[in-house]
Amino acid sequence: MNTPAEIIPAQGKLGVLLVGLGAVSTTFIAGVEAVRKGMALPIGSLTQMGTVRLGKRTEARSPLVKDFVSLASLDDIVFGGWDIFDENCYEAARTAGVLEPALLGQVRPELERIEPWKAVFDRQYVKRLDGPNVKKGKTKRDLAEQVREDIRKFKADHGLDRMVMIWCGSTEVFMTESPAHKTLDSFERALEANDVSIPSSMVYAYAALMEGVPYANGAPNLSVDIPALMQLAHDRRVPIAGKDFKTGQTLMKTVIAPGLKARLLGVAGWYSTNILGNRDGEVLDDPESFKTKEESKKSVLDYILQPNLYPELYENLCHVVRINYYPPRGDNKEGWDNIDLVGWLGYPMQLKINFLCRDSILAAPLVLDLVLFLDLARRAGLGGIQEWLSFYFKSPMHAPGLYPEHDLFIQLMKLKNTLRFLKGEDLITHLGREYYD
Ligand SMILES: NC(=O)c1ccc[n+]([C@@H]2O[C@H](COP(=O)([O-])OP(=O)(O)OC[C@H]3O[C@@H](n4cnc5c(N)ncnc54)[C@H](O)[C@@H]3O)[C@@H](O)[C@H]2O)c1
Repeated sequence: MNTPAEIIPAQGKLGVLLVGLGAVSTTFIAGVEAVRKGMALPIGSLTQMGTVRLGKRTEARSPLVKDFVSLASLDDIVFGGWDIFDENCYEAARTAGVLEPALLGQVRPELERIEPWKAVFDRQYVKRLDGPNVKKGKTKRDLAEQVREDIRKFKADHGLDRMVMIWCGSTEVFMTESPAHKTLDSFERALEANDVSIPSSMVYAYAALMEGVPYANGAPNLSVDIPALMQLAHDRRVPIAGKDFKTGQTLMKTVIAPGLKARLLGVAGWYSTNILGNRDGEVLDDPESFKTKEESKKSVLDYILQPNLYPELYENLCHVVRINYYPPRGDNKEGWDNIDLVGWLGYPMQLKINFLCRDSILAAPLVLDLVLFLDLARRAGLGGIQEWLSFYFKSPMHAPGLYPEHDLFIQLMKLKNTLRFLKGEDLITHLGREYYD
């Protein structure tokens, strides 16, 4: 047994700050309200329905995750958020069109109470969107101050004990690290100078960290994953995680690819295409936002298949990813994958996957788990990058010099071992010699 970490118990209310009250956020909020009322099950949420095995296989100890570690109760969660549109959360959920009107009707008063605060927004970073509910400020530093005030007011108004912020805003354009991102000092000077290399998402991330609020990025754009903000999170012991929720096609990729590699089956090509008709699809129809997504989706196979270690099997893999905006489908994305495999003696085979999924239905439970686990991390004194939350992301954040772990099963093992570690339980290695000695 290890020594358990000191974890402050989850007492009092937990505020959830959502940047963007679109399809994912409203599906998450309405879902939590429905679960609270006993109208539905939180399917897809590890914190609510998952178990964790403890000790030997003969001990039959597999408590629910939420009974094993101290997590905030759903009844203690309070929601708030920003959006460039001023519709309340009920209206936004109707616009998103993910959940049925009958279900939304049953949580309508709770959703109507959530009115979005004015957003930090600049069309330069999301070309296909514009809206009226936007903050004004002379500099990006002023805007960050306004976000900090929103956070403090939310805390005071609701008597909150702790908070977590999740970026569920639209995907911003593709950006790379710039000199302004290097240190906190250069970042703050850039805020003051309205430097173009600071997109809106970084303004929110900075405000969250300055207020001691954990931050996760659900979208693929560059945000908290720059040296200045990673250092700030580390120094202030504030947990951060990201990026890009791993939901549909990439989730399947990180399930199938480790299996093919485990059997040393070669992959000559992997062609992935999607049709998607929600606002996210519309934003991704802009080539600059799509590039951000494409980079995030494409890196997965390289890391899982390790062509450097298995050149004969994966070196020439042709990986193509397409997303086509197709309004009739709304949030009900359809993805097709064609995988050209190579087997014994070089004989070709094919595998086809057709996933008729629902984007926000897959994403909502991830938001819930991230909220609860980031809050746990904060109470357990874990600051900076939370690599054990890689399980939830297409492009997991990791320490400099490491490669990210993309294999879903390794990610799950890492997550559960982290919970065991925090509670002082033995880590599970799956060696299993003791049953035969
Ligand atoms: N649904 C999924 O499966 C999934 C998976 C991975 C990543 N994502 C990402 O999650 C994000 C949310 O997805 P969605 O389907 O809810 O999209 P959406 O378009 O329905 O919602 C995004 C919301 O963010 C708002 N917004 C944009 N910029 C903002 C800003 N600067 N401040 C405040 N609000 C802002 C928009 O007005 C919109 O209401 C997107 O970036 C998407 O790429 C979603």
